[in-house]
Amino acid sequence: MIYSGTAISVQALDGGIAEFKFDLANESVNKFNRATVEDLAAAVAAVKADSSIKGLIVTSGKPVFIVGADISEFGASFAGGEATILEWLAQSNAIFNSFEDLPVPTVAAINGIALGGGFEMCLVCDYRVMSTAAKVGLPEVKLGIFPGFGGTVRLPRVIGIDNAVEWIAAAGEKRPDAALKDGAVDAVVAPEKLREAAIDLVNQCINGKLDWKAKRAEKLNPVKLNMLEQMMAFQTATAMVVGKAGPNYPAPKLALQAMQQHVSLDRDSALKVEAKNFAKVAVTPQANALIGLFTADQAVKKISKKHEKGSNKEINQAAVLGAGIMGGGIAYQAASKGTPIIMKDIRTEALDLGMGEATKLLGKTVERGRMTPAEMGKVLSRIRPTLNYGDFKTVDIVIEAVVENPKVKAAVLSEVEGLVAEDTILASNTSTISITHLAKSLQRPENFIGMHFFNPVHMMPLVEVIRGEKTSDAAVAATVKLAQKMGKTPIVVNDCPGFLVNRVLFPYFGGFDMLVRDGADFQAVDKVMERFGWPMGPAYLLDVVGIDTGVHAAKIMAEGFPDRMAPDYKSGTEIMFENNRFGQKNGKGYYVYEQDKKGKPKKVVDQTTYELLAATSAERKEFEAQEVIDRCMIPMVNEVARCLEEGIVASAAEADMALIMGIGFPPFRGGACRYVDQIGVANYVAQCEKYAHLGKAYEAPQLLRDMAAANKKFFG
Ligand SMILES: NC(=O)c1ccc[n+]([C@@H]2O[C@H](COP(=O)([O-])OP(=O)(O)OC[C@H]3O[C@@H](n4cnc5c(N)ncnc54)[C@H](O)[C@@H]3O)[C@@H](O)[C@H]2O)c1
Repeated sequence: MIYSGTAISVQALDGGIAEFKFDLANESVNKFNRATVEDLAAAVAAVKADSSIKGLIVTSGKPVFIVGADISEFGASFAGGEATILEWLAQSNAIFNSFEDLPVPTVAAINGIALGGGFEMCLVCDYRVMSTAAKVGLPEVKLGIFPGFGGTVRLPRVIGIDNAVEWIAAAGEKRPDAALKDGAVDAVVAPEKLREAAIDLVNQCINGKLDWKAKRAEKLNPVKLNMLEQMMAFQTATAMVVGKAGPNYPAPKLALQAMQQHVSLDRDSALKVEAKNFAKVAVTPQANALIGLFTADQAVKKISKKHEKGSNKEINQAAVLGAGIMGGGIAYQAASKGTPIIMKDIRTEALDLGMGEATKLLGKTVERGRMTPAEMGKVLSRIRPTLNYGDFKTVDIVIEAVVENPKVKAAVLSEVEGLVAEDTILASNTSTISITHLAKSLQRPENFIGMHFFNPVHMMPLVEVIRGEKTSDAAVAATVKLAQKMGKTPIVVNDCPGFLVNRVLFPYFGGFDMLVRDGADFQAVDKVMERFGWPMGPAYLLDVVGIDTGVHAAKIMAEGFPDRMAPDYKSGTEIMFENNRFGQKNGKGYYVYEQDKKGKPKKVVDQTTYELLAATSAERKEFEAQEVIDRCMIPMVNEVARCLEEGIVASAAEADMALIMGIGFPPFRGGACRYVDQIGVANYVAQCEKYAHLGKAYEAPQLLRDMAAANKKFFG
């Protein structure tokens, strides 16, 4: 053994070749944490000191090659500011360079995932052989940063500027054929041939058949394009990249800027430019938020695993009551992920519509070549439409998705409870009604739970799993497991009207209603909130949700939280409802809807809306954008804090993830809690005071006041 460390070992093979193997101790994957980078330095020193080594193959002892840098270390690394980041990068780059400058040829044998820092390690090697089972790429911009271990320097020198811009700005994971086509790897082979192929390549270098020194020199020198060609390449690319990412995601643009600054420099100078720009992007609030989201996502996954331990019950057969928008979507989603499901309705037309929707969605998947017609047939055969309760004795879970009416739901649930097995779980997809309240009509409330999907079910990643007062851990465990099997992210919350997501969404609508009452133009509010980062402004969102649904749910929320959710005035939204303007569903809401060329609804401004609103609104006036933001956001954020105070949601990470996945909270802001952190808790509380005259919804909850007094944050 030439070297043996916690992450890397170097062992002599035949013919002067040594194997440089990544195999991080006590971890299931290889990643570039600080310990690995330090180990890399020591391993390189050991190779340098051994003159018998004529060539290296770089391998992994795990199913992945190297997944990337250790993102959990970013928070601490970046918190020190630009100077600390620069120091860290200078040290790391010196280590990567010492590997690249070894006096022997090096070949990476990429057996599995090699992303970010993992692929940057491959780029310091002279040659790259990739298994057909592997994936490579530089996805850093998804985290609001860009490659910082030399990726922006080496990739354009290996695959050319145009390709490198696409790889880095689009952040995709590349399959072997694409990587080979772009020249990012030199060969692709079957997994069992990988080692042999890497050894063969390094032998060809040792024997002088391959000019590895010339190949290496390309990475050490400027990119071979004259200034004009470079300018052309970057100008077109920047316009495209910026257009796609939008103004709220600066990382791709900054990555291109850095590349443009350093493509005409030699490696060492170029790395300094990369580092300088990286240090800037790493301290942006967007990077802080997006890295925070990654960590929150990991935390949510861990929590789900813990919940799952509550039972070993598997859901092998499901049933859904109601074949409407939600029931149909749930049936489709379960079936397409492999769970057979009975879909019951009281109307044949509803069943036909439900099956029709599923067929349409699957048809599109077949059209895109992602499924064969035979597989489509298999998925459809997993949905069994029915008008009766015939086989309900054999189902493991029943998901109720009938109309949002407590009396109807209670009757349907108690009827079905009498027909299913003792341990069958009953879940309601109610969006607002308390699970504890619905449980009162049941004999086995411990088996009853909320399973709140979002519309459209196949697109929306979140499922709120609602624990009622009497819901058992076993019911939570099985529901969490099913949600995951259906390809969704479950977040377990405690019961209250609206649960977490709708409980915090309706105060936001309340803030919007009040702005309109006070003379704001609903369209202007939409524009400000869209610029803030929401996929659609509140008026448009209400139209999409359905004004009737919104008004109905708002009433339930007002009953639950009268001190802050019951308006003492008639809202614009109610006026829309009274005038049969239900939103997109009947073509008229705040906006009117026409069909575009593709048959999709297109919103158009309608003067009548202003005439109708005039009856209850103050004279039209302009509001500063910041006031619009504060008046919409504060009621939502305060309600999130109340949910944390009351234990409705267990952690800030879960609350933020739920908002991002359930209602499209702007990801670059990281969620409601991160939003407060970035404003500063004390500043946020002061903002609330400014709007105290608007009522209780604007009153900062005790949790935030206490945090402000103790100078605490939600994260870090
Ligand atoms: N639509 C949404 O955006 C959304 C989002 C989340 C949750 N939800 C909730 O999902 C539930 C269903 O909403 P939807 O939008 O799908 O409604 P929908 O009106 O489209 O569908 C309801 C279906 O239930 C059927 N039904 C009524 N009584 C029944 C019974 N006794 N047995 C079987 N079927 C019966 C109806 O025939 C209808 O097909 C509601 O509780 C709603 O609040 C809706």
